[in-house]
Amino acid sequence: MEQNEQLPLDVLILAAGLGTRMRSNLAKVLHKLDGRPLINHVCRTATALAPRKIYVVIGHQGEDVKSAVLEELNEENAEFAWQKEQLGTGHAVNSAREFLENEDSTLLVLSGDVPMIRAETLAALVQKHHTHRGRGAACTILTVNLSDPTGYGRIVRDSEGLFNRIVEQKDATDEEKAVKEINSGIYCFNTKKLYSALTRVKNNNAQGEYYLTDVPALLREEGEDIAIYRHSDAHEIEGINNRVQLADMERTLCRRTISRLMLDYGVTFIDPKNSYVSERANIGRDTIIYPNVAIEGETVIGDGCLIRSGTRITNSRIGRSVEILDNCVITDSEISDTCTVGPMAHLRGHARMEEKAKVGNFVELKKTILGRGSKANHLTYLGDATIGEKTNIGAGTITCNYDGKNKHATAIGNNVRIGSDTMLIAPVKVGDGAVTGAGSVVNKDVEENKLVVGAPARAIKTLNQE
Ligand code: UD1
Ligand code: CA
Repeated sequence: MEQNEQLPLDVLILAAGLGTRMRSNLAKVLHKLDGRPLINHVCRTATALAPRKIYVVIGHQGEDVKSAVLEELNEENAEFAWQKEQLGTGHAVNSAREFLENEDSTLLVLSGDVPMIRAETLAALVQKHHTHRGRGAACTILTVNLSDPTGYGRIVRDSEGLFNRIVEQKDATDEEKAVKEINSGIYCFNTKKLYSALTRVKNNNAQGEYYLTDVPALLREEGEDIAIYRHSDAHEIEGINNRVQLADMERTLCRRTISRLMLDYGVTFIDPKNSYVSERANIGRDTIIYPNVAIEGETVIGDGCLIRSGTRITNSRIGRSVEILDNCVITDSEISDTCTVGPMAHLRGHARMEEKAKVGNFVELKKTILGRGSKANHLTYLGDATIGEKTNIGAGTITCNYDGKNKHATAIGNNVRIGSDTMLIAPVKVGDGAVTGAGSVVNKDVEENKLVVGAPARAIKTLNQE
């Protein structure tokens, strides 16, 4: 007999369902966990196993699901099978028949709505499938014991404890409902045997669907070996069928992330239950996070920072010893060591603060570099601007960067003093050591060390250089 171990691995992900229980206009697998669609989590985990190819069954909002999948997978590693009508998980697998029925491979079947499964667990499942009784099984089912198995398919075993069949919640007798061991919806199959058995699956059940869960029993009746790999971590195997489960999973993931940051990385959370941190974020030692902070995406925060309440930081890099006061929004931006920000500041669009720079209340930085030791302390908009070192931007300063059609750049040098309420009409440059008077409207370049005043601003004096 052929050795399973020599067979290549293919992956099939089921992701065509609408997910009725979500009560949503958005297909279930596009709902987000940790800021990424559920399907993306499953695709990334599958990639870690280095399969030959990943097949994805799509249907509801199939084009959108396809785009989400292609954020994780290269086009040459992915193949899409359309399931136009959703007639059950067996029918979904059957939709990929043209690609798979003649393959001599092991097929790992995953559910698009079981996002926490780890690659190590899947690798152990494949290993068990390949080595069961020395020659491998026709099908290996990933199961887990749940204290509350409601909603899942149950694993029915015979008097010797061997696999008998899977029974769905809606088709189960009271005795079967008492079984705690559930079907994860994740399996390995011998691909050819799976497709051959699928032709015999009927839809005579409570939901009138073609169940993939009938295949293992059909194979067993033909004398094939069915193996079970029982896992111990129930969280990994939880499926998302409704929004309560989605919220619970988000909480679980976040709690694990925060515990890891506290225990392994020495981060202080004043109120861990009321902070949100993405699994993908990194935070350094002795950084203190106050309640109601959200740290999203691939954010990196260095050692010894202080992040006060109400702040949201998304996909940004924060250096060491940075102080971010209350209610700031920081996206796609970079803040270097020992800067201070806020309260109520907004950094976005690749804003960058260099060391010891300071941004105060009601200041917005968009696509702007604020140089080393420079300050914008109050009520200011700086967009498309480059600001040198040790420059002070007075309260109420605005870069008028948009002429109604195009965005224009402002360049401000080192040691400049921009007076309060200055309007900088871009494109415009202000040279090193220059000063603008309060309320000036700067619509022409200002030379180095000039004092300009008025609207429009005129040079009235050359300043002494210290
Ligand atoms: C399924 C299993 C159940 C298991 C549970 C684990 C069946 C019949 N039941 O139930 O034993 O305990 O998963 O989470 O398989 N899908 C399609 N096309 C369809 C139907 C579903 O692509 O026609 C996809 C869905 O998008 C989803 C996955 O298959 O990603 C599972 O479908 P779902 O309806 O959620 O199955 P469950 O009722 O959870
Ligand atoms: Ca499900």
